[in-house]
Amino acid sequence: MSFTRQRRLRRTQQIRELFSQTQLSVKDLIMPYFVIEGVNKKERIKQMPGIYRLSLDNLIKDLQEAKSLGIKAVLLFGICRQKDEKATSSYSETGIVQKAIRAIRKNIKDVVIITDVCLCNYTSHGHCGIAKRTTHGNRQLTIDNDKTIEILSKIALSHTQAGTDFVAPSAMMDGQVKALRETLDRNHFKDIGILAYSAKYASNFYDPFREVLNSSPQFGDRKTYQMDFRNSDEALREIKHDIEEGADIVMVKPALTYLDIIARARRLYNIPIAAYSVSGEYTMLKNYAQTEDEEKRLVLEVLTSIKRAGADMIITYYAKEAAKWIQEVRY
Ligand code: PBG
Repeated sequence: MSFTRQRRLRRTQQIRELFSQTQLSVKDLIMPYFVIEGVNKKERIKQMPGIYRLSLDNLIKDLQEAKSLGIKAVLLFGICRQKDEKATSSYSETGIVQKAIRAIRKNIKDVVIITDVCLCNYTSHGHCGIAKRTTHGNRQLTIDNDKTIEILSKIALSHTQAGTDFVAPSAMMDGQVKALRETLDRNHFKDIGILAYSAKYASNFYDPFREVLNSSPQFGDRKTYQMDFRNSDEALREIKHDIEEGADIVMVKPALTYLDIIARARRLYNIPIAAYSVSGEYTMLKNYAQTEDEEKRLVLEVLTSIKRAGADMIITYYAKEAAKWIQEVRY
């Protein structure tokens, strides 16, 4: 015979199990949460069926369920009452995220808390940084990098004082990882880690998230700080700099349309890599699947592909469902 028989390795389910290379595990999954003020609030999100804005009491309940499913880590986003130009409520001791961290620490044992560190949920104009007018040209509004990293440092410090395990700067400002690392070290939080949103693209997959936070930019767009999706070498530079600045984990975001970036980063760097399967990816999968069984198989295929590309952990709105499905599925 002049050909090889690859099908021998696929002949039975047991044989396929034996040769399967990538194992998706519940420990890989990080569940994002949107937290709001108030009591007994559970607000639906039109574009994201199954995901809610939760008040602290309901956050704790939901987290207990997530934990019982084996979820180890959560990513918190806050929705504040008062937005302003300077994002002042983002670093307040009584801010929504700071309260959520304390509530989790008080009520739930051993959950890894990761907190998103950005300004877009807190600024009246919806940008991820402090706005200023350029001093040259036609004095357009732009985002001030260095002022913004000062605020990001304050946010990270306040989250850390409340008890977070990892801060996750997502504003795509230059030097943000260095600024956070220095601030935490100076304040004796040497053990608190940084999950850097290193290669975060200016993506069209964020729309449902912006509905959740009502954070669409009121002028311009985010293309002066988030990355151009035509580029990949630039992503590797971003990742390199973040590692040099002190990131403990680097992240690629979104996930599905950026598997090539994950794979390249995996080959180049020996550091944990996270992938964020974003709101638009969730919406897309929800709309595609007609039955729960179809959704289960679809979602596990997608999450496994992200892991196969090289991600060590995946932030996904499907974390809880996937944790259940992993136990049930037959590949
Ligand atoms: C911004 C931020 C975004 C997301 C998380 N933090 C995107 C944006 O609005 O630019 C998107 C997450 C998602 O779509 O699930 N700091």
